[in-house]
Amino acid sequence: MALHSGALVSFCLSVLSAASSRSRSSLNPSLSSLVSTLTSINASMETMWKRSRPTKYTSFRTFIFGITAQSMFPDGVVYEGVGDGEPVSFRGESGANDSMIPLVDNLTAVPYPDTPLTKILMDFRQYRPSNHREFLAWVRGEAERVGVRAWALGLDRVEEEEEEGVEESRGLWLKVLNQVRDFRWRHWCFAREYILKRTSHPTATGGSPIVTWLPNQLQAVLDEMVRLYEGFGGDEGGMGEEVKGIMELVRRQQETLRKEVGKFCEERGVQASA
Ligand SMILES: *[C@@H]1O[C@H](CO)[C@@H](O)[C@H](O)[C@H]1NC(C)=O
Ligand SMILES: *[C@@H]1O[C@H](CO)[C@@H](O)[C@H](O)[C@H]1NC(C)=O
Ligand SMILES: *[C@@H]1O[C@H](CO)[C@@H](O)[C@H](O)[C@H]1NC(C)=O
Repeated sequence: MALHSGALVSFCLSVLSAASSRSRSSLNPSLSSLVSTLTSINASMETMWKRSRPTKYTSFRTFIFGITAQSMFPDGVVYEGVGDGEPVSFRGESGANDSMIPLVDNLTAVPYPDTPLTKILMDFRQYRPSNHREFLAWVRGEAERVGVRAWALGLDRVEEEEEEGVEESRGLWLKVLNQVRDFRWRHWCFAREYILKRTSHPTATGGSPIVTWLPNQLQAVLDEMVRLYEGFGGDEGGMGEEVKGIMELVRRQQETLRKEVGKFCEERGVQASA
């Protein structure tokens, strides 16, 4: 996966620069390259199913738990000889590491709901390398400054002669989000197969609630896709058959996710909405 991070960064930058110069003829090829790169990342992640057996995972998962919000460390952990002997609490390596999906989140400005679960997502960001954090903050700021989302998607106003280009951008943008969706869907499937079916411990290694946390972000992406697609005129919006197929899958997935989360919550006696 990390092999593709150079291309990912470079195409995110070219999307920003195309938006900054309001050049649709550079935006669309840049979005298209971004989709291809994310597609390669997706394909390489998919190989994890073959490389790591769900039945073995819980045996080493024990060793990657953090401290924060874990029942086995109710009072934190004292590291002897470190600091002033006060207990500390960290979330550990989980979720903290990778900056690829957060980068695309910050470029596309997917709105996350104001929930305690989203707060955990933001808290994870603290655990990343500082130069990644700075870069992501810059991307976010730049995306806002040049108004990439609103301009790329023609949210304010579209001149007639621009229409075709804008429809293409909209389709490509949805394909970018579709990759993020697929990533998060797979993460949910991993959690289901590797963890939820094998242990009843309610907390993920990073201290987030195991059943509801991943769906919080996944649902946000699914909702954004539906909202945008409908806003662009849905099936009549000129975004093509491929996007239409993607959106059918998105709707099915919304439904499946709702049912699965409901089922796991019921089994475990937890609330489905945070
Ligand atoms: C992700 O990769 C898998 C495996 O190659 C593929 O089946 C799936 O269609 C891909 N998803 C997307 C959104 O590209
Ligand atoms: C975290 O990132 C480092 C450096 O890129 C890598 O070696 C390590 O495997 C990553 N850990 C996890 C859990 O992803
Ligand atoms: C990335 O975007 C989120 C909102 O989706 C925002 O809250 C967060 O601060 C951004 N991250 C950075 C590092 O700017």
